[in-house]
Formats: sequence, C-alpha cells, structure tokens
Amino acid sequence: MITQVLVLNGPNLGRLGIREPEIYGQATFEELAELCRSTGRTLGLHVDVRQTDDEREMISWVHEAADGRMPIVINPAAFTHYSYALRDALAMRTAPLVEVHLSNPAARESFRHTSVVSAVADGTVAGFGLVSYQLALQAIAELTAEADTPAPDAS
Ligand code: DQA
Repeated sequence: MITQVLVLNGPNLGRLGIREPEIYGQATFEELAELCRSTGRTLGLHVDVRQTDDEREMISWVHEAADGRMPIVINPAAFTHYSYALRDALAMRTAPLVEVHLSNPAARESFRHTSVVSAVADGTVAGFGLVSYQLALQAIAELTAEADTPAPDAS
C-alpha cells in the first residue's frame, strides 16, 4: 500500500520566490510543492503539500494526520518558535514526523534558535533550501519502511 504523507507549511511560505530570496531562495511555493510530489514518487510516497497562514487550519491538518495515521513533514515557519498549540497537536502524532526548514535557524537571529516543535519530532532537517524537504521525505520513507518491517522471528 502506498504511504500518504502530508507536507505542511506555515505562514509566509506561500510567498516563496518573492520573500527574502537571499535567505529562502528563488523557487516559488508551487515549484517546492512539485519537487516534493516528484521526490515522493521516486520514494513510493503519495505527497500532499499544503500551506496556511492560519494556526487553526494548521492544527486541523495535524489532527487529520493523527486520525489517519499519516506521516508529516512540517515547516512550521514562525510557529516553530512560539506555538505551544501546534506543538501539543504534533505531540498526538501516530506516525513519523520530520521538522524541516529552508534556512538554518540556528545561524540566524536568537529568537529563531528555539523550536518548540523539535522535541516531539523524530528529527529536523534545516539549512539546505529545497533539499531540506527532499531529505525529510527520504527520512519519512526510511521510518515508514522500518515500521512496516516485521520483527525478526525469535525462534
Ligand atoms: C523557516 C525559518 C523560520 O525562522 C521562519 O520564521 C520561516 C521559515 C525556514 O524554512 O527557514 O518562516 O521555517
């Protein structure tokens, strides 16, 4: 069965291409979405890419993923640094979760050094532009394959 993955993107990421291109690159959000879908196809994943500027909508997608046992790749954008509500929603996850960032927040302003999300994720990929998303999807493919592999027979 093909694994469905949600790739969720938070505030201002819909403006990629025109948003501070020296930090976030020249690619548009639609180009990012297409790269995620095509990367997913090569990994045997069905990738659904979404973006919202609204915390309530983001949390509803996280609930949907938990109810459907769907893995998540999430770039929470600025929510990363302060949204305990998003963090609490992600803590209810029922499948692998990878946090992703285009830039490297650790190398930027000090308010970006805190992620309230990292502690509930399997891991974080940051600083590689669009490649961050490709690496995150690769991690999801590995984690879901591990979960599907039956434990070795002890007898
Ligand atoms: C970001 C980093 C965040 O600090 C910032 O608020 C974003 C984008 C990134 O992908 O590099 O909106 O998550």
